[in-house]
Amino acid sequence: MRIIIVKDYEELSKRAANILASQIILKPSSVIGLATGSTPIGTYQELVRLYKSGNIDFSEVVTFNLDEYYGLDRYDKQSYYFFMNKYLFSHINIDRKNVHIPDGKAENIYIACKTYEKKIKKAGGIDIQLLGIGRNGHIGFNEPDMKFEALTHLVNLDEDTIKANSRFFNSIEEVPKQAISMGIKTIMNSKKILLLAYGAQKNETIYNMVNGRITPELPASVLQLHPDVTVILDKGAGSLL
Ligand code: F6R
Repeated sequence: MRIIIVKDYEELSKRAANILASQIILKPSSVIGLATGSTPIGTYQELVRLYKSGNIDFSEVVTFNLDEYYGLDRYDKQSYYFFMNKYLFSHINIDRKNVHIPDGKAENIYIACKTYEKKIKKAGGIDIQLLGIGRNGHIGFNEPDMKFEALTHLVNLDEDTIKANSRFFNSIEEVPKQAISMGIKTIMNSKKILLLAYGAQKNETIYNMVNGRITPELPASVLQLHPDVTVILDKGAGSLL
């Protein structure tokens, strides 16, 4: 695990965007795994800036998002589909047929999850997966559990996660209680992983992810077993390391 601690959120976002941009420059048809939440917003803004200044071209890039709320359709302002358009896709020259986000309105979840996995495989696997991390150690929406859930699946969100994500909704009651998420194996199969975290409220989680035992009770701890992980933290998130 390569750990980079930077001064602040702005530098974190620039570093992360530069890593993703290099990946795209070296392999224009890269398959990139994307995340939502507040952490990657600055990274997406920086990627848009790099695109607008002519430094990167997304025309051949293929993307797969980690997760989507179950029950929300793509036009819902709280959906991750909406989020991705708002912060990234509507500002760059990505080919829409190369964009993949789990379908929050899938009628048959089992088939939808299997199809998502098949599409990732058909695309050649994920070259680099961008991750945030929940305070409870979740990656994607793989919540603390007794076992690692392997592949894309339907998740019951933790109380903690519902509470944390309620900041994006009018009230906690509006937060969906379930989501579709890539599984731990899906994430671990990515060739490279780039995890970002900022803020002192995540410092203990980060400490345990890096130094603690590998356990599904802290899903991100499994990243200790991945051969190519880069973690970028601001001073707060890295303060216990
Ligand atoms: C989002 C995702 C989640 C978030 C995590 C951190 O697609 O998969 O694991 O990365 O909940 O969220 P923020 O960045 O809002 O602290």
